[in-house]
Amino acid sequence: MDILLISASPRKARSGTWALAKHVVRGLGPQARVETVHLRDLKIGFCTHCEACHVACMRCPVKDDVHDLLEKILAADGIILAAPNYINQVPAALKAVLDRSSHFIHCKRLSGKYLCAVVTSGSGTKDGLILDYLRHYANICGAQFSGGVTACARAVQKKAAEAVRFGARFSRDISQRRRYPAQIRAIRGAMAHFANIVGMRKDHWRGEYAYWKERGWL
Ligand SMILES: Cc1cc2nc3c(=O)[nH]c(=O)nc-3n(C[C@H](O)[C@H](O)[C@H](O)COP(=O)(O)O)c2cc1C
Repeated sequence: MDILLISASPRKARSGTWALAKHVVRGLGPQARVETVHLRDLKIGFCTHCEACHVACMRCPVKDDVHDLLEKILAADGIILAAPNYINQVPAALKAVLDRSSHFIHCKRLSGKYLCAVVTSGSGTKDGLILDYLRHYANICGAQFSGGVTACARAVQKKAAEAVRFGARFSRDISQRRRYPAQIRAIRGAMAHFANIVGMRKDHWRGEYAYWKERGWL
């Protein structure tokens, strides 16, 4: 089982979110091969809305480290998004990655994968908003979201045992192909929505239209 841990804190070794995420990783078990990526180490620009990735799947004229990262996401069975709460949202570094992955949304490229989140904040409040947002992102990309662990920055260590248990559950979700019924409905809804949009834009989004056609989704 291949797991990609994306850590969005710029504080790397001093990051409480990464510290908590490492407990989740401990819980995954021996079958998990884990690769960790710190966004701080990468150069990732903003999406320019040029739509090149829709015209030819995955093509992007912004030459930076996002290309490798998106390939790593596609190669993983499970993705752990470790994000400090920045004004009740993910940090801009992670949002930039999500924006640059809009082809994943159009073509449901994360179908069959599982995402989860690790969130910390100074106050320990409103972290659920970030979990909700990342569940939405997972579902519109076709993936299921196993939930996450949250902690107040001052109390990360107190959540260690919960994080280990959560890691074990995330691992089980992946190996047993767990289905979350409400999320399956959300994924189907997103499929219907994008079938419509990709169909309407077929003359421009040729690559994505072909992708849907090849799979018999249209
Ligand atoms: C730009 C910025 C915005 C933040 N916004 C919030 C916030 O809205 N609510 C909150 O409780 N903490 C907020 N914090 C505090 C961080 O979420 C908190 O310190 C977090 O645990 C840092 O994680 P890290 O150690 O992994 O970097 C903010 C911190 C920064 C730098």
